[in-house]
Amino acid sequence: MAKGDYQSAFERSLRDPADFWGEAGESVHWYKKWDKVLDDSNKPFYRWFVGGQLNSCYNALDLHIDNGRGDQTALIYDSPVTDKIKTFSYRQLRDKVATFAGVLAAQGVGKGDRVIIYMPMVPQALVAMLACARLGAVHSVVFGGFAANELAVRINDAQPKVIVSASCGIEVKRVIPYKPLLDEAIKLARHKPQKCIIVQRPMERAELILGRDLDWKEAMAAARPHECVPVAATDPLYILYTSGTTGEPKGVVRDNGGHVVALKWTMKNIYGVDPGDIYWAASDVGWVVGHSYIVYAPLFNGNTTVLYEGKPVGTPDAGAFWRVISQHKVKAMFTAPTAFRAIKKEDPNGEFIKKYDLSAFKTLFLAGERCDPDTLQWAEHHLGVPVIDHWWQTETGWAICADCIGIEQLPVKPGSPTKPAPGMDVRVVDEQNQEVKRGSIGALVIKLPLPPGTFPTLWNADQRFIDSYLSEFPGYYKTADAGYVDEDGYVFVMSRTDDIINVAGHRLSTGGMEEVLAAHPDVAECAVIGVNDELKGQLPLGFLVLKAGVKRKDGDIVNEIVKMVRDKIGPVAAFKTATVVARLPKTRSGKILRGTMQKIADGQDYKVPATIDDPAILGEIAEALKGVGYAKGA
Ligand code: COA
Ligand code: AMP
Repeated sequence: MAKGDYQSAFERSLRDPADFWGEAGESVHWYKKWDKVLDDSNKPFYRWFVGGQLNSCYNALDLHIDNGRGDQTALIYDSPVTDKIKTFSYRQLRDKVATFAGVLAAQGVGKGDRVIIYMPMVPQALVAMLACARLGAVHSVVFGGFAANELAVRINDAQPKVIVSASCGIEVKRVIPYKPLLDEAIKLARHKPQKCIIVQRPMERAELILGRDLDWKEAMAAARPHECVPVAATDPLYILYTSGTTGEPKGVVRDNGGHVVALKWTMKNIYGVDPGDIYWAASDVGWVVGHSYIVYAPLFNGNTTVLYEGKPVGTPDAGAFWRVISQHKVKAMFTAPTAFRAIKKEDPNGEFIKKYDLSAFKTLFLAGERCDPDTLQWAEHHLGVPVIDHWWQTETGWAICADCIGIEQLPVKPGSPTKPAPGMDVRVVDEQNQEVKRGSIGALVIKLPLPPGTFPTLWNADQRFIDSYLSEFPGYYKTADAGYVDEDGYVFVMSRTDDIINVAGHRLSTGGMEEVLAAHPDVAECAVIGVNDELKGQLPLGFLVLKAGVKRKDGDIVNEIVKMVRDKIGPVAAFKTATVVARLPKTRSGKILRGTMQKIADGQDYKVPATIDDPAILGEIAEALKGVGYAKGA
């Protein structure tokens, strides 16, 4: 799309979506062109590029080789935790992917079969994802920071034929063995995979189970490369589980056709990069940002993507990001504000930034959580490049709101992810599904149909898809975020409307944590809320009401609870604090007043809800919170 003005691009995308996305679809390789760009014959299910046939792996790799870019670097693996940097050209990466597709095919994996990938940030994770795409198999990547139980839940739902994993991950200096977690998950799961393929890393050798486990290297040596398998545009490419309001995660489905078209389009139009540019998303392949912007979009667009196995600080210092940017000549970077808060804390004056040549660096993109203006302005000031906050979700797969710098760069307003991206008809509505006045807070919703690249449904759960996202505000997709649109049309995303919290850019369900707390034998009742945290944005905090007659020390019970959450959900939950209280504040109908408790914890003003059963409990809650370092000023 030619550079033009944002407003006309946006309006055109809504007026004639078929024309808009059809034009974008022309840049993609199709074995068979689509019959219809948008099929709305089965509302509220919408399908994009119906009748088209393509292969996502072909579009990510082979297409560029066929177009003469085979020797260009596709992937830079930069791993400060193993002191390794390795590059792969498009041809080298394609050959590895084709061979691993051969490994999977030899295990009977074909079109539509599921493969779970539970891996650290190593190149084999990308290779496994793209190999699935090559075969038309459906991958489901599970973030390494989840515990065995969470992996088991996903195994049961996705029912994979094969699981691909590694012997270990590395968290700064700690080696985290993955294989025991995998074995435990398979033990817990009802569904059993036929085979596991394990990457053996030198820091930790995993014990392989004879007959079930294969060694990655040996399997690769014995395999023959496999060609790309054409799939329908509407066939699933992957399932990515994300937190819902209970412990049961939602399997967000991504299709092939709409995904290639939309993601390729975003690289130029949102991120402003051209084929050959170096693009770095410092996230994890286990999250949607990793799927979309470490793996698929940069490769669809012929960029060089960076896979970084490290942290913003501690690997080895707060200059890690600037080292990567200067060493690899990164043009655009994408990460979460929390990473910048971590850097800012260690290097408030940006001394490390001055040590590196960042002349190739043009734009920083932030997403994954609300971006506080302080962090945005700190980054702008010290880096001297535009800092673009953009808002999106696992469900949408790409930005709902962004400053689309490849179309027209709009002025930044700190605190706002700018305006809706083309195709995203964002509205603010009240509980009656009526649009509110500009400037008023309401539910942020997107008028249907959602554009291509977003989720067509939940895995094996069409009804849950409707119930969770489409029923409350008929005609719209419910983002479950609340916010407002200002007089200039800028969107402000303020908070979630459900019990999801955002910890260091990681999306977690407090409902899921409450299920774990409630399972403790001494706990009668519990609640988990998200409290403000300077570094991670939010942290979970638990309240426990003990069963009558429990005489054990509160501290012992809290320690057990903390361990239970770590064992059941995983270290990523960062659940470290809980407090024992005599009772929980509730409405007269018995609803726990989590929102009020959260305000007390954060030291914010709050109104005593009119429906509260016993207002005195709020004072008890404030005291308990002070005991664990919160509710200052309450
Ligand atoms: N495998 C195993 N354990 C993992 C893990 C993984 N892939 N990822 C995180 N963990 C562990 C951490 O080691 C930590 O364990 P601990 O409680 O024993 O210390 C725990 O999970 C919490 O991790 P995290 O919340 O990431 O905290 P951290 O202190 O390790 O790092 C930041 C904090 C801010 C540096 C880090 O979260 C970060 O870089 N975030 C920004 C980028 C990002 O990933 N965004 C996501 C979407 S864009
Ligand atoms: P996830 O599905 O893990 O990407 O989390 C999505 C949620 O993160 C959104 O619903 C928001 O609550 C939050 N989020 C993501 N990006 C932003 C942003 N730029 N501003 C505010 N909140 C954001």
